[in-house]
Amino acid sequence: MIVLPNPENIDRAAELLRSGRLVSFPTETVYGLGADARNPAAVQRVFAAKGRPAEHPVIVHLADASALSHWARSIPAGAQALAAAFWPGPLTLILPRDASVPDVVTGGQGTVGLRVPGHPVARALLQKFAVRGGDGVAAPSANRFGGVSATTAQHVEEDFGDEIALILDGGPCQHGIESTIVAFTNDEPVLLRLGALSEGDLAQVLGHAPARARAGAPRASGTLAMHYAPRTPARLMPRDELVSALGRGKAKGHIAVLAHSISQPPLFEGTWFDAPTQDAAYAHDLYANLRALDARAADEIWIEAPPDGPEWSAVRDRLRRATHRG
Ligand code: TXA
Ligand code: MG
Repeated sequence: MIVLPNPENIDRAAELLRSGRLVSFPTETVYGLGADARNPAAVQRVFAAKGRPAEHPVIVHLADASALSHWARSIPAGAQALAAAFWPGPLTLILPRDASVPDVVTGGQGTVGLRVPGHPVARALLQKFAVRGGDGVAAPSANRFGGVSATTAQHVEEDFGDEIALILDGGPCQHGIESTIVAFTNDEPVLLRLGALSEGDLAQVLGHAPARARAGAPRASGTLAMHYAPRTPARLMPRDELVSALGRGKAKGHIAVLAHSISQPPLFEGTWFDAPTQDAAYAHDLYANLRALDARAADEIWIEAPPDGPEWSAVRDRLRRATHRG
């Protein structure tokens, strides 16, 4: 059920979490599907609801960075600097886990993902729920495994209906794309997932860009080749290719197009979405656009490839995975 995030409903959500139920809440990146991170049966319910394989770990959301020591065995200086600079905010740190962290949270790995979100509703919920220092909310993105993430309460309801006790409605998410994930398994930072923070943002604090993850790095489901994908077959097409495909009238069947630099040709008969031309606005609308295009039940979705600049890296990453063909 979708409810307004007023104080009564925040209390109710915290109560539901305490009793082992699932609650969806907005963050500044995407909506999360939360469970009490100290309750393995509750976290198990998140995996079941998403259809997510057990070996993919989930991020623990904390009210405050001061709770870190309950979850992480050690906090390298670089991780501390990033936390000080970007929390509350769209950064997830992967750190060596404290022995008390349930295996179901970490997928049995030696590390745990931690984040202090900045959204006022997420913060209010975490502050209500986390009355003991060691409390936290385990929450993956609130979407079916492998599918398009949710950036509104309605998206969450589309995916889960009544399977979730409560969906706190905080309106559309500010960034619209997931947190940036940096792992510190030793003292050297490794970038596991590009997201709302850019490599440049990280480099300003670390003094250098973190290394990119290589094969064999810790598992992250968001790094699977195919992820964030609509059900309709989707293709990423450079502008010229898209223009000529449209011009040749090659559009057989119902084609749904997402374009940001060209406008709808006069004789085009499919579905046409104009995406924002600016990177942050594009990211903000991306998942809502993918879901809306998918809902048209077209034969194919054609997406104009975004520009090359570094500020578009996270969007390019998501679109590559959304359009990957296995
Ligand atoms: O913005 C976000 O990060 C959102 C909001 C709700 O906080 N959450 C999110 O969660 O995107 P999820 O589960 O969809 O993606 C988290 C990613 C997954 O790819 C997971 O495998 C990875 O983080 N992850 C979590 N813990 C990890 C760990 N200990 N080691 C490596 N990867 C980890
Ligand atoms: Mg996800």
